[in-house]
Amino acid sequence: MTRKVRKAVFPAAGLGTRFLPATKSMPKEMLPLVDKPLIQYGVEEAKHSGVQNIIIVTGRGKTAIEDHFDVSFELEHLLESRHKKDLLAIVRSVSDLIDVSYARQKEALGLGHAVLRAQALVGDEPFSVILSDDIIDSDTPCLRQLLDVYEFYSAPVLALMEVPKESISAYGVVDAEPVAHNGGRDRLYRIRNLVEKPKAADAPSNLAIIGRYVLTPDIFTSLETIPPGSGGEIQLTDGLKHLLRSRPIYGYKFEGKRYDAGDKQGFLQATVEFALKRHDLGANFLQYLKSLKL
Ligand code: G1P
Repeated sequence: MTRKVRKAVFPAAGLGTRFLPATKSMPKEMLPLVDKPLIQYGVEEAKHSGVQNIIIVTGRGKTAIEDHFDVSFELEHLLESRHKKDLLAIVRSVSDLIDVSYARQKEALGLGHAVLRAQALVGDEPFSVILSDDIIDSDTPCLRQLLDVYEFYSAPVLALMEVPKESISAYGVVDAEPVAHNGGRDRLYRIRNLVEKPKAADAPSNLAIIGRYVLTPDIFTSLETIPPGSGGEIQLTDGLKHLLRSRPIYGYKFEGKRYDAGDKQGFLQATVEFALKRHDLGANFLQYLKSLKL
């Protein structure tokens, strides 16, 4: 029987150099999209997908993330004494969200290395990985879409998206063949090969890996085995390529819109679109944007 995926790992030890100086003293995962830190979008997606435990892999200077998901006694006390019930509910809902534990990545040696740091907390069970830079807006949470495939095949599943040739070298890229699934919807692929950040000319396809993975615990052995790859780092993509020797891996072209919030342009787009969708802000913000007469 397929074992239930109960845990989600959030690598969050990166240096956030693309957002300096904002990230000099603040983790990039805490940058707000409208009024919620990036990582909270991912944590909510995990929760809405049925995951019960969050493991955040942090590094130096990331205590703001721990404080964010912790109870803030002083703040709650202050809001209570001022009868700010709505704000109190918002603050409490963050610490009540889900069970969070932390693993430490002392050096930023790559995504695969970060996932390996979570091994003791994950144990010998399937788990998911969410990269909080990738914000995905969809009716069914992206991770839930992958879990549906996992529950059918009991095999690792990666989120895939078609990207234009000029940006393919920023991603892990797969060579994959379509698989008929659920009445032939054309979203499922069986992976034949994976390459981390290939040159456009060498990319095996236009299908990029996006930051959602359902993994089986044998990935840890693969990650321990592989040498450093692209950028001199231990890459999760290389670990998956190693794992492919011993088991099938699937890719799923998820439904939904993905924003690359790890990039300034993508972050701004997400900010504008999420603000426009908000009931309390959208109408006024739209009026403002129109008034700019661009
Ligand atoms: C990471 C992965 C890459 C994947 C990407 C998705 O790269 O290594 O395979 O395509 O996330 O966002 P990063 O963006 O951290 O360089």
